[in-house]
Amino acid sequence: MVILIRGKTVGFHKQTVRNLPLHHGSLVRVLVRVDYNVPMADGLIGDDFRIRASLPTLRFLLDQGCSLVLISHLGRPLEREAKYSLEPTARRLEELLAKKVLFVDDTVGDMAFQAVKKAPRGSIIMLQNLRFDPREEQNNEAFAKGLARVSQADYFVQDGFGVVHRAHSSTSAITHELPSVAGLLVEKEVTSIQNAMENPKRPLAAVLGGAKVSDKIQVVERLVKIADTVLIGGAMANAFLQYKGMHIGRSKVEENQKSTLDDIYSSAEKKAGKKVDDFIVLPKDIAVANEIAATEKRKNRLVEHIHNDEINVDIGEKTIEEYTSIIAKAGTVIWNGPMGITEIKQFSHGSARIALTLATNSDITSIVGGGDTADFVLGWDARQGGSFSHVSTGGGASLDLMAGKDLPGIESLLDAR
Ligand code: 3PG
Repeated sequence: MVILIRGKTVGFHKQTVRNLPLHHGSLVRVLVRVDYNVPMADGLIGDDFRIRASLPTLRFLLDQGCSLVLISHLGRPLEREAKYSLEPTARRLEELLAKKVLFVDDTVGDMAFQAVKKAPRGSIIMLQNLRFDPREEQNNEAFAKGLARVSQADYFVQDGFGVVHRAHSSTSAITHELPSVAGLLVEKEVTSIQNAMENPKRPLAAVLGGAKVSDKIQVVERLVKIADTVLIGGAMANAFLQYKGMHIGRSKVEENQKSTLDDIYSSAEKKAGKKVDDFIVLPKDIAVANEIAATEKRKNRLVEHIHNDEINVDIGEKTIEEYTSIIAKAGTVIWNGPMGITEIKQFSHGSARIALTLATNSDITSIVGGGDTADFVLGWDARQGGSFSHVSTGGGASLDLMAGKDLPGIESLLDAR
């Protein structure tokens, strides 16, 4: 769907499942790329957020009488390894849909072909981990042809938002084999993130944290251009504080970031002039500990008073008040990166207070980036992410989208007309 807002075209520029000519009565098979790369230990799924996020597309297609062949990767296996089998995700999907999901331990072989051929109308088949075949990551044409042949599909639907930043056989080459459109998750991710970046309800506050500046440099640069305030926390703040001449004890600082930070500040100064420190806001105080351990206490320090043996583990109390009061007045908040070490409860206060401020101010459009930030809010939120306008299922994909990059898995789909 493409809409015009203030003379600007925003919205999704690709065809979606809604454009498919699906008619009850004729057998339509659809090959659906999902991203079920979920945390898993000993065959148990740690978090099924990505599986639940795929349900609207699957239900939409099933309601139209389609038969589905699902494909995904899991982890980064070097060879066929049982711990990377997608079977547990098929079982979980079966529970969520309350419908049989046939798991086939094959991708492009005859076993998969025969299973699809014999499957009754309206069935769901899930194939084995695509990355058990090295050709998947090579964007290999023969492997893509194999997927199209085995699935006997009429259409390809890309709904694995988390993987659309990769040009792999199941995201790129496959689109040369079958008419290819986006699923509802991909559409929702792209429209939510792009609308917040390109047409935000103002003021727009960006909250940036996590470990490294270098991982997020293009996102930081873009947000400095479009946001009204940029709030920095997490270990990323260490690089900024050090750049400003602060001593940050034993906190880990990413090396060689001076020229990157010079560039960030020169573009921030162009925009905010002398008020640059009210535009890129750094912590005035931080929570420190002597070690990163669950047994350690949280101590509050003004940034000028950090001891040599202390480590930054969270934003401090004053900073929490300052950041949450800026956030509460925002129209849109884009949050990417936790404010502290959220795996340890007493170091997660800053992130929890930001989550609470967003969750209790329902007029704020809140976009929570994927990866660690999504993991945190999903653990925090009793409504499984429902307290926010959008929680992204993508890690690298949402960063690339926020940075304004083209995503190969989306660009290769049919254009909306
Ligand atoms: C992710 O978890 O970010 C996606 O599933 C992509 O996985 P990858 O980084 O192993 O390609």
